[in-house]
Amino acid sequence: MNACIRAVVRCGVSRKLEVVGIRRGYCGILEDDFAKLGSRSVANTIYRGGTFLETARCEEMKTPEGIRKANEVLQQEGIEGLITIGGDGTFRGAVALAELGNVKVIGIPGTIDNDVYGTDNAIGFDTAINTALDAIDKIRDTAGSLQRLFFVEVMGKSRGFIALEVGTAGGAENILIPEVETRIEQLCLDIRRSFKKGKRSSIVIVAEGDDAGGAFSVAQQVWERLRMEYRVCVLGHVQRGGSPTARDRVLASKLGAAAVNALAKGMTGYMVGELKGEIAFTPLRETWEKKKELDRNLLRLVKVLAG
Ligand code: F6P
Repeated sequence: MNACIRAVVRCGVSRKLEVVGIRRGYCGILEDDFAKLGSRSVANTIYRGGTFLETARCEEMKTPEGIRKANEVLQQEGIEGLITIGGDGTFRGAVALAELGNVKVIGIPGTIDNDVYGTDNAIGFDTAINTALDAIDKIRDTAGSLQRLFFVEVMGKSRGFIALEVGTAGGAENILIPEVETRIEQLCLDIRRSFKKGKRSSIVIVAEGDDAGGAFSVAQQVWERLRMEYRVCVLGHVQRGGSPTARDRVLASKLGAAAVNALAKGMTGYMVGELKGEIAFTPLRETWEKKKELDRNLLRLVKVLAG
């Protein structure tokens, strides 16, 4: 997000616009917590994870009073255009503000879950999968050396984009995601077969929102049937931090610049994303009303490649 804020600030300044940062997301609007941002205020931020403006979950913004108040504060502050970075919660607030018509609003997808329709990748996804992959590679060293069965839980409260990517890249034996019903009996069969075929270790990637439960729950259910020793590793919030990858920095820079250009052209109520390498605009409402499909061919390929 820092790389994106930097792009917004510097593109805004180059267009001679006044740029103001809002601290802690919508909470910052409601509490009038604004900071003027110039080119120098975003120096040395591109390589840092998180957001220097900080963020927050803002319950008040889910209410009509909250929206009204936010709209008022923005008007008092003379804000003409608002750029919001986030996922569906952020965009719902953005649509509500855009519909009141006093401020133009453009959304930028920023969520490691990557579950936003209208963009191939959201900011943060590439960094998260590379962080998870690094951990899985390390776990594989232990799994291989000690001939162990591992269940590794990755983030994804309702979608399996992270699990699918890191499972493929990390050579997982199995990937469990919310989009596909998990059959524990079948999983046990797969695990037993792979050890029978001569494999000495096995890594099962579990998305936290899988229908069979998280990694601890899946592992317990497998244990009840196979009585095989196992280990569980929950990667958790390490996936949400760290220095962003080059791909994330480039994506964040492009989307930040495109959002400023869109506002300057008078656009409002859209999310700017990237589809097949091209900047693409999607009405904000569609970003949560339409479902982004994940690559089921990749899931099938993982089965073949597990060998
Ligand atoms: O941003 C989405 C997500 O990464 C989910 O996958 C996860 O459930 C959630 O954030 C956890 O975030 P928090 O602990 O801040 O609620």
